[in-house]
Amino acid sequence: MRKKIVAGNWKMNMTPSQAVALCETLKPAVANSDAEVVFCVPAIDIVPVVKACEGTEIKVGAENLYFEDKGAFTGEISADMILDAGATYVIIGHSERRGYFGETDADVNKKAKKALEKGLNPIICCGESLEQREQGITFDWIRMQVKLMFEGFAAEDVAKCVVAYEPIWAIGTGKTATTEQAEEVCKAIRDCIREVYGNDTAEKVRIQYGGSVNAANAAELFSQPDIDGGLVGGASLKPDFGVITHA
Ligand code: PGA
Repeated sequence: MRKKIVAGNWKMNMTPSQAVALCETLKPAVANSDAEVVFCVPAIDIVPVVKACEGTEIKVGAENLYFEDKGAFTGEISADMILDAGATYVIIGHSERRGYFGETDADVNKKAKKALEKGLNPIICCGESLEQREQGITFDWIRMQVKLMFEGFAAEDVAKCVVAYEPIWAIGTGKTATTEQAEEVCKAIRDCIREVYGNDTAEKVRIQYGGSVNAANAAELFSQPDIDGGLVGGASLKPDFGVITHA
């Protein structure tokens, strides 16, 4: 049985003091969830959020990392920094990173490898654009992204990853994928992993849906056989996130 994982992606929101205040609001709301609950927060918020969540089951994650260990990479943060700050998860390859900051599939692969090497749990994102969906190439595109994110990985490393399926057209738009659309792509991701890495790995890897998840649609989405929770943007900054973690 896979444990569900509901992760908030705070994006570029919350100053350190606002972050602490949000934790105080969310802590009681997310308590006693059967799912693993993760707050993925801006790098500068990791230390105060870890402190604010001490004594709870909440895990903390970063929203990005760089694949080098250290050195002259101004503005980047390393896996060791994230771990030492007390976080255990990291989002990799979010469509906003790919779209606005030019991250390639090769970058995503290197970042995921570095995260695993250091003992951080990666949440690796994939998803098609509206144009790709309309062209009917969603499944081919997602299969390609999944194969490239895991290129050179051993099966046991794939099993440690979380894959987030986030159709780009559903992110921050209020247009959630239908339950059927979300499930069929999450199933296709699992089938692709099964083909390459075998059944055991496919059954272990957790696959989230993301894109306008809210308190009203989470329960139905998360009840699907291949959807093991969600990656939640906008609604992760509101008390609604508590409802989502109990969906
Ligand atoms: P959203 O964002 O829930 O605001 O659509 C999801 C995400 O980008 O991870």
